[in-house]
Amino acid sequence: MNYDVKEWHKLSLAKIDSLMDSLLTIKTPCETLVESMRYSSLNGGKRIRPLLTLSASVLSHANVEDALLIGSTIELIHCFSLIHDDLPIMDNDSMRRGKPTNHIIYGDAVALLTGDALHAICFEILSSNKISVTAEKKIKIINLIANAIGVHGMVCGQTIDWLNTGKKIPLHELQQMHTLKTGALIRASILSGYLAGDGFHDSQYQRMDDISQKIGLLFQVVDDIIDATEDSHTLGKTANKDAEQNKSTYVTLLGLEEAKKSALNLHKNIIEIIKLENNSEYLQYLTDQIYYRNS
Ligand code: IPE
Ligand code: IPE
Ligand code: MG
Ligand code: MG
Ligand code: MG
Repeated sequence: MNYDVKEWHKLSLAKIDSLMDSLLTIKTPCETLVESMRYSSLNGGKRIRPLLTLSASVLSHANVEDALLIGSTIELIHCFSLIHDDLPIMDNDSMRRGKPTNHIIYGDAVALLTGDALHAICFEILSSNKISVTAEKKIKIINLIANAIGVHGMVCGQTIDWLNTGKKIPLHELQQMHTLKTGALIRASILSGYLAGDGFHDSQYQRMDDISQKIGLLFQVVDDIIDATEDSHTLGKTANKDAEQNKSTYVTLLGLEEAKKSALNLHKNIIEIIKLENNSEYLQYLTDQIYYRNS
């Protein structure tokens, strides 16, 4: 197979954006809610999660349309998490993806409700007949994604983050927090794409699980680093927020150089193990994108 990764990235981004646009073309008595959902979803994110879903689906020979739909619904969950993360009662951020945050435009209450609506629509779509995988697989995928969002995943990590703002936590707790708040959804993005196909065995799934957890951790370690090293314009969000808000991050706990070393080692380790998997070129490419990014 000949992998033109850059071309694949470009084409996939266009497909994800167009699908998300159509998923959020909704008739409802509350136009403001849909407008707000679209404002915070169709706004130029990197789309790393759906791209990961697509890249993993190649390894298990899943149907591309299924993987696209699954990845795009996970992106909607991600957009919901960002709206809530930016709220004044949380990180109190006024810029996201280079634009005013949702609550700045729509107010706190609508922002909160928009997050709720994006959360629910993910499962409305996943449980519909838009996806062609068997009912058994669909349930597995829904279970995996739901597990990654709540008390076993993102919301748990965000709660630990919130409760420890202003405190220094030990490195192993920080790693756990990162694995939950960001890693869990990234793990689900990869594993759900993988699960959508059927060209794999349990041992391969275990290896993919290990790889996806490491990619999730790498993602947040790099997020911590670029928060401290890039400017707001490049990031599309307020720079140096973590230090300002006394957050425990890889940078605030270990210092920039050690944080960079952690990212370097993680990246090297991930690439070494992904390379052992057949058809993992897109996943390797995305891991590089996650590591080398500046936004
Ligand atoms: C930012 O995620 C929030 C974290 C989980 C660290 P991304 O860096 O993927 O943000 P977008 O989607 O590209 O805006
Ligand atoms: C947020 O982490 C993780 C989420 C679950 C949204 P951050 O608070 O570091 O994300 P940014 O830096 O605001 O994007
Ligand atoms: Mg936060
Ligand atoms: Mg934040
Ligand atoms: Mg951050």
